[in-house]
Amino acid sequence: MCGIVGYTGSAAASPILIEGLRRLEYRGYDSAGVAVQRDGALHLVHRTGKVDGLAQAVEQEQVAGTCGIGHTRWATHGRPSTANAHPHTSCDGRIAVVHNGIIENFVELREELEAAGHTFTSQTDTEVAAHLVEEAYAEQPDLVAAVRAATQRMAGAYGLAVVCADEPGTIVVTRKDSPIVIGMAPDGARVASDVIALIDATRDVTVMGDGELAALSPDGIVYYDAAGRVTEPKITHIDWDVDVAEKGGYPDFMLKEIHEQPRVIRDTLAGRLVNGTLAIDELDLSVEELNLIDRVYVIACGTSYHAGLIAKNLIEGWARIPTEVEVASEFRYRNPIITPTTLVVAVSQSGETADTLAAIRDARCKGAKVFGITNVIGSPVARESDGVIYTKANKEIAVASTKSFLGQVVSLTLLALLLAQVKGKMRTNQIRLLFRELADTAEHVEAILSDTSAVEEAALACKDAVSALFIGRGMGAAISYEGALKLKEISYLHAEAYAAGEMKHGPIALLDDGFPVIAIATQSPVYDKVISNLQESKARGAMIVAVATEGDEEIRKHADHVIYVPKVRDCFSAITASVPLQLLARSIAVLRGCNVDQPRNLAKSVTVE
Ligand code: AGP
Repeated sequence: MCGIVGYTGSAAASPILIEGLRRLEYRGYDSAGVAVQRDGALHLVHRTGKVDGLAQAVEQEQVAGTCGIGHTRWATHGRPSTANAHPHTSCDGRIAVVHNGIIENFVELREELEAAGHTFTSQTDTEVAAHLVEEAYAEQPDLVAAVRAATQRMAGAYGLAVVCADEPGTIVVTRKDSPIVIGMAPDGARVASDVIALIDATRDVTVMGDGELAALSPDGIVYYDAAGRVTEPKITHIDWDVDVAEKGGYPDFMLKEIHEQPRVIRDTLAGRLVNGTLAIDELDLSVEELNLIDRVYVIACGTSYHAGLIAKNLIEGWARIPTEVEVASEFRYRNPIITPTTLVVAVSQSGETADTLAAIRDARCKGAKVFGITNVIGSPVARESDGVIYTKANKEIAVASTKSFLGQVVSLTLLALLLAQVKGKMRTNQIRLLFRELADTAEHVEAILSDTSAVEEAALACKDAVSALFIGRGMGAAISYEGALKLKEISYLHAEAYAAGEMKHGPIALLDDGFPVIAIATQSPVYDKVISNLQESKARGAMIVAVATEGDEEIRKHADHVIYVPKVRDCFSAITASVPLQLLARSIAVLRGCNVDQPRNLAKSVTVE
């Protein structure tokens, strides 16, 4: 969702801010703006639409200065408009703020501030922050103190960066439940809501903690803890390639990221089998504690939830522990049965999804151990869980998750194997064999990616449809849900997924001539049942696209288009079968002229409820 950047140093601020905002574009936004200090004043520029438009305006208006803040906004309070775009300012225009998150008590604060004579120019919750800082600054002209005083009045979530015309070269930042990272580069200090916006300047960053505050200046950064004491920063070194933010010759990030998946599988598994035993030390639970686990909840949203559906099959199948998978927005508002022997596994690519975080807090309050699976080092999910596995996908830019999904599935597979190992449900040699076959899926995915002609053919056949049905059974059902989500989110083609056995209970009514049914028909104990569902669909005129196992010639009798994937055990079929579905969704989206990387209305990180 929204993105924050800030720079203070010896170089011109505008190009650095614009470049930072471009790197945050992937998160999804509808307007953008900057505020740059110059000659004892603040120069503000806002635009709706893309950062390109803002960049042109910044150039035309010759926005000069070496200290400034910038923002990309995803509308929550107030429609996308120039007036609602950040930065927002105090009445006198001398204080400007950019903000991520939601200030929950903004209505009462606004009423109070208006009664005190403040004039508001936007419909946003953020604007109250600018006026609160203004109030505090009038009492004590010290930006650090004023920002602290302002945030003490604010309820909700915030990542905040503030500049003041009276304090040249200073940016004050703070956060609560919304990420802020800071780094010192040779040409000055930078802040951003996402490390991707400053990684080209420095790889040594500080991920701020809740309630902490920092004052950035060209000479350095002063950090304060939540109590206001000066502290030493904890530096994290980021070791991704800088080219993570480049397309590397691919037409879009999604395709690049799909092609990175063999590497993700290998990196996620590296070092996990030590002397024939699985090693997941980050879990931070003793063997005795693990052995006591008698119930697992996997909580997540969207694609991460689908990874959870796959995990349920594995954990129940291998470790024989009852496992429920729930969307975090439901879990957080009901009263799930949680005991000290319940393990909650929170899955989140971004590590900052608001509902998932709230569910983690709730589960921990109720006494559960929470284990996070995330892609982002130091993210709120990582920090607030008892233990964490990082999925090693590296930064994912395309809004549609692909490589991080595969990283999640592989990580969850490891967790399921570990639970089976601890519970004594699997022998060591079985675990070793499965681990080896899991590692082999990297090569299988490479093989799938080396020839995508069958996918392209199926995409052409589906591109003009108005709706599509994805079906499968067992693992295939879980994969279908993810296939349908991928298609609808990037191609805007309506898609639904059903456990194939449910067809006769409703969805079959949709079928008529040419209606696309995309079936996961890989070899599994329920293969024959899926074939029956295909026959029923075919009899009603549906156009069948089947994802099937190499060597299965029988399937050609039932399907109009067949996409073959290498033979793997059913337990690993999610890894192989989901790749053609990712490619299919992307190809259909491209044929329909959609923006594959930044689909409308969607944000990469859903940081609000
Ligand atoms: C994935 O393609 C989606 N864009 C979306 O469903 C995503 O998986 C969901 O918002 C959860 O995000 P998270 O993994 O960062 O928590």
